[in-house]
Amino acid sequence: GAPVEVDISALAPGQKMTVEWRGKPVWILRRTPEQLAGIKKVDAEVADPQSKRTAYPTPEYAQNEYRSIKPEIFVAVGICTHLGCSPTDKLQPGPQPSLPDDWQGGFLCPCHGSTFDLAGRVYKNKPAPDNLEVPPYTFLSDTRLLIG
Ligand code: FES
Repeated sequence: GAPVEVDISALAPGQKMTVEWRGKPVWILRRTPEQLAGIKKVDAEVADPQSKRTAYPTPEYAQNEYRSIKPEIFVAVGICTHLGCSPTDKLQPGPQPSLPDDWQGGFLCPCHGSTFDLAGRVYKNKPAPDNLEVPPYTFLSDTRLLIG
């Protein structure tokens, strides 16, 4: 599949957009400072905080806490690493049905309950074996991304 060029200039803080790449949904989320702070708070609760595991290899530039090149821009394949369902946005922190009271924002897979933080890091003891996949991408400019 060809690389996909995406204009992210209209993506506001806290907003997520989805584009298609190789037939897969790719999420692009512009994280707010509060959302980034929430990621730091759950380092001890996620299975692979620095993305060192290899089942879904994370590009080297995303093997960090935020799993991204630029902290505020998160890019990930929106497919659960368990059996391929589509996780649901649970971007806002705070109590919500079937989520812990100290939820910091992230994604919930409706199929078997895997939870991911706003860096796509899977929480411990969930059926999903790995963090969400980060596709290859580069910044062509501050507002244009190339995925693939
Ligand atoms: Fe997502 Fe099973 S497919 S938890």
